[in-house]
Amino acid sequence: MAISDFDLVFFGGSGDLAMRKLLPAMYARDVAHDLPASARIICVGREDLSQEAFLHMIETNSKPHIKENVDEGAWRDFLARITWVQLDAGNPASYGALADALRPDTGMSRSTDTGLTRVYYLATPPALFARICDNLAKAGLVTPASRVVLEKPLGRDLESAKQINADVGRVFAESQIYRIDHYLGKETVQNLLALRFGNILFEPLWRREWISDVQITIAEKLGVGNRLGYYDTSGALRDMLQNHLLQLLCIVAMEPPASISPDAVRDAKLQVLRSLKRFTPTTLSQNIVRGQYRAGYIDGQQVPGYREEPNAPQHSKTETFVAMKAEIDTWRWAGVPFYLRTGKRMADRLAEIVVRFKQIPHSIFNQPTSSFQPNSLVIRLQPDEGLSMNLMAKTPGDSMRLKQAELELDFREQFKSPRMEAYERLLLDVLRGQLTLFMRGDELEAAWEWVEPILDHWEQDDTTPAPYSSGTWGPAAASALIGRDGLQWREEALPED
Ligand code: BG6
Repeated sequence: MAISDFDLVFFGGSGDLAMRKLLPAMYARDVAHDLPASARIICVGREDLSQEAFLHMIETNSKPHIKENVDEGAWRDFLARITWVQLDAGNPASYGALADALRPDTGMSRSTDTGLTRVYYLATPPALFARICDNLAKAGLVTPASRVVLEKPLGRDLESAKQINADVGRVFAESQIYRIDHYLGKETVQNLLALRFGNILFEPLWRREWISDVQITIAEKLGVGNRLGYYDTSGALRDMLQNHLLQLLCIVAMEPPASISPDAVRDAKLQVLRSLKRFTPTTLSQNIVRGQYRAGYIDGQQVPGYREEPNAPQHSKTETFVAMKAEIDTWRWAGVPFYLRTGKRMADRLAEIVVRFKQIPHSIFNQPTSSFQPNSLVIRLQPDEGLSMNLMAKTPGDSMRLKQAELELDFREQFKSPRMEAYERLLLDVLRGQLTLFMRGDELEAAWEWVEPILDHWEQDDTTPAPYSSGTWGPAAASALIGRDGLQWREEALPED
């Protein structure tokens, strides 16, 4: 679907996200000829910068983040779309300058594909969302065709998430609100939808009768970097699990939606979130492990522990790792454990979903059933994109010995067409008005509602997160968590090279 003309306003326009992700993503789509010739990008922020100084800032802070070779002519054309507007988000008087920079919002007319869409992207701390929305409305800058994009963190608990929904909802209708979870923009996540609902093969098996367990891992090699101020009040549960991991879990576990339309998909995800088994203080201590990285080695380089990071509180209890066993109380999933795990400074950068099927019921070969590796489907999001299906096959030669073999699908190899970064995909969807890959307000609240008892418990708990050395797969307690069920995390089960 072609994109009609737009004014895209980046609040936090000189910030880290705009420089590292948003502007490079817009450049990539510009070079790919996805943007209408007259479309414009308006970056707003508090700094007193001339247009020239801002363009210079983009040159030094944003251009290096463009992955492909930059075509200088295309880059100049891209810069010509950009306007800097100085604005104090909390001060209604300063919205006049923004009004002057915008063209009239005529909305998108689907019949003619003409008209102008206005999008406000709030890449700012959430504390500013309410004021920005109110001030935009007061300045008469919101029409029924305007859209607003909200960046995480979308709250730090249920109450604050509800407050964000209420504040933004005073000015924008739900159909105008795009809550970003950049994991939903990743190519493989959409491929998971294709895999589940574009093939007849999996759906009959996609249930408790045939699946033994599911593992979802997002591991990072990076530490907290220069985000300690934010991270220390957040931690892995809020930063990664409440959003990215739960969204992946929803896509794996949801009932088949009737269509790919936003509400069909979001209703199905909501049902999963509402069916997650609630933790009690007892089940929570048994089924959740939190950890914090200590010094160690990443790629042969020594790295400091979390508490030695610049400005880190000496006795910080913030978790940089969390692993848990979750369960979904539905007919489809009752009794199937979903093991979720995420951490910083881990042995590898890896994001993957492992669906393990049940053991064969009986061996007809001269091998005991226990020597058969159960089939598994591994869906890789990072570092490469693909999936592998592990099957038992006969080894070549005289004897009838069976061994695990891998059926591999590498999306990059299979489809040579260029990839899109998550932010490119999501920005295009916002500009086209497609909400499927964005969270609805009730989903956001349901995810917080489920996570909140864990946060409350940790708040009152005197124990500290289990330490783990940087460059490992997390604390030993995480292996024990899954080991109690007679299972292993995938990398623990892999044969040594
Ligand atoms: C962000 C978190 O949402 O996701 C970061 O705030 C994390 O802490 C990042 O590093 C990971 O994203 P990706 O796409 O690099 O896996």
